[in-house]
Amino acid sequence: EKHGFRHFMLKEIYEQPGVVRTCLDHYLNLDWVTDRSTNPINLGLPVGLYTNLEQVQIIACGTSWHASLIGKYLIEQLAGIPAQVQYASEFRYAPPPLTPNTLTIGVTQSGETADTISALNMEKQRRADLDDRFQPRLLGITNRMQSTLARLVDYAIDMHAGIEIGVAATKSFTAQLMAFYGLALDLAYRRQTLSIDRLEQIILQLRQLPGQIEAILETQEKQIEELAHEFSETQDFIFIGRGINFPIALEGALKLKEISYIHAEGYPAGEMKHGPIALLDEKVPVVAIAMPGSVYEKVLSNAQEAKARDARLIGVTPVNDPHATEIFDDVLTVPDVEELLSPILAVVPLQLLSYHIAAHRGLDVDQPRNLAKSVTVE
Ligand code: F6R
Repeated sequence: EKHGFRHFMLKEIYEQPGVVRTCLDHYLNLDWVTDRSTNPINLGLPVGLYTNLEQVQIIACGTSWHASLIGKYLIEQLAGIPAQVQYASEFRYAPPPLTPNTLTIGVTQSGETADTISALNMEKQRRADLDDRFQPRLLGITNRMQSTLARLVDYAIDMHAGIEIGVAATKSFTAQLMAFYGLALDLAYRRQTLSIDRLEQIILQLRQLPGQIEAILETQEKQIEELAHEFSETQDFIFIGRGINFPIALEGALKLKEISYIHAEGYPAGEMKHGPIALLDEKVPVVAIAMPGSVYEKVLSNAQEAKARDARLIGVTPVNDPHATEIFDDVLTVPDVEELLSPILAVVPLQLLSYHIAAHRGLDVDQPRNLAKSVTVE
């Protein structure tokens, strides 16, 4: 059932173009192209969920928490609604003060993560007896429409990732990002925070993503595998990114530690100089996510600061900028897309890098030590 792949994780990385296509088929309304009186986004969510919306709070763990950070960025930047992201395990024991007209979103691939379920349960209960403005509005994003989460929330967005067997989340992360693009665009459309031209532009670019992910898989894997072999003795890795790609630095680091057991941390690139830069020397490779956009030059200059400490510098970046290719010792090439769409491409080479480092070390990539696919204890 691995269809010729050595591990489920690699198979699932390769399934991502298909998952993105399936999400596009479900979330985008084709009729909109010819009939502008229809809604371009098709998530099946009622207007009531959004009425007078003042705040969004997102609750998740692990990789789903990383996807939620990108969701926050999209909801704030596209729809103009303040959003917060909470770790489920923290929310439960220090719930933030209640805010009115708040949409609460639980994000869980399995739909069974105990921390996430109990945080949402608690939120539902503490709002239930209050007046209208404080009534719970619960939305789930999950890969299991029959799960505990799906039963608990008022509405759920199906991630359509298909069953994920590898313990490390890969295609489910991509699918969560797609769900957040859909949600943020749905919100933006209904609140009229984006022009129709801009909406159209983003939708057209979303449709390019499957082909662009395929291009990364086809052109980069061999090189990433070879690069991975150079890290057999490496003990620490640093990932840096900013803005919408800061969570990709966190995700790159989490993937690596989970399956290769190498110590890895993700930082917002601008924070390095406030402490973590002290860690750097020639033994600590730095992976910089440098995607063109509002913080591109900033990330490049943060990367240069790392290089000045003799760190080996790996860039996740398009190759069309000679300045960037000069800074980096190694380049993991991704297509040049607009910033808003870049995380979904930037994560793919990082998944491959972690996979090949762990596989080369001979580790059990699909069943890493101490981890379970679904964490049903709090
Ligand atoms: C990372 C990973 C975990 C899960 C986390 C939440 O690769 O798999 O960090 O993301 O346990 O799981 P779900 O999304 O099922 O709630």
